[in-house]
Amino acid sequence: MPPKLAGTLPGTTDRRVDALLTLLAENATIVISGAKIAKEIGVSRQQVFRWVEKLRSLGVRVKGHARTGYHIERVPDILAPQLLSHRLQGTAFSRRIHHFFKTDSTNTVAMHLGEAGEAHGAVVLAEDQTAGRGRAGRTWVAEKSAGILCSVLVRPAVPPAHAPLLTLVAGLAAREATAEELNTAPDIRWPNDLLVGGRKYGGILTEMRAEPDRLHYAVIGIGINVNQLKMPPELQRIATSMRIETGRTHSRLELLIRLLRNLDRYYNLFLSEGSAPILRRFAEVSSYYRGKHVRITTARESFTGTTAGLETSGVLRVARDDGRGVEPILSGDVAEVD
Ligand code: BTN
Repeated sequence: MPPKLAGTLPGTTDRRVDALLTLLAENATIVISGAKIAKEIGVSRQQVFRWVEKLRSLGVRVKGHARTGYHIERVPDILAPQLLSHRLQGTAFSRRIHHFFKTDSTNTVAMHLGEAGEAHGAVVLAEDQTAGRGRAGRTWVAEKSAGILCSVLVRPAVPPAHAPLLTLVAGLAAREATAEELNTAPDIRWPNDLLVGGRKYGGILTEMRAEPDRLHYAVIGIGINVNQLKMPPELQRIATSMRIETGRTHSRLELLIRLLRNLDRYYNLFLSEGSAPILRRFAEVSSYYRGKHVRITTARESFTGTTAGLETSGVLRVARDDGRGVEPILSGDVAEVD
């Protein structure tokens, strides 16, 4: 059964825990008494105490105790909806932010929301996923609270054939949000892999409900490896995190705010001016756009060739090595070859 709408999703973080976190974060370094907090958020002092304990168990450094009052030394790196909402004013993403400490997959939740009629711009966030999904039926593995696990629900009035462009839009937004904190310029491997030093630190999974001529809604799922200290051994050769690359931790909250602001900007650009500016920007920042020797693996075949730009719909063009001309690639894996 699909979940109910905004604010009442099963498993979502209690709005009052969010309120407590926001209150503490906005008054960081000021001591606030348990009684005052209880009054502000409309619960008993015992409840405040229990939630403070919960926040502590999640790694938020809340100092003090009920009698003396509470304070935090710095804003915790939890993707709390109220904190985000203030900073996202003026974008489509400020009003419906659903946060989970744990869920199966933010994309699954957002698809259910789409089905249940949730409005454009809903955001689903998780600290942890038990069934994170990647492209081509793969799983997306991410250590709890180390990265960004975010899905947005959009309802663009574009034909379903243009949906692949949403992946490019999100890729550009995520690349730009992370670029200034990385030491080298990140690359995008068509259609959705964010790479630094040739290894992947982020990916995008776009899913949708559409009829041949009408897109009902799309969910853009974005996963970014931010503060992982190391990747699982089987992924170390191909995957990385921002922290592994820079040697320092990064604020997920600030990155997410930048990501959603950029997404709003690129999305509006796409709606107002179509694919041209998106493709132009992709050409500027992706070394895979043209002239890259690659192996393409689709559901049907595997072959090598050289990338030859994108079609207006975002489909990749590859000039085949076997002389059979230029192939449009709708979906598939792209790997650089020598
Ligand atoms: C890929 O590169 O294969 C795409 C990975 C997409 C992962 C994100 S994490 C948030 C959202 N929820 C999911 O289950 N998947 C996407």
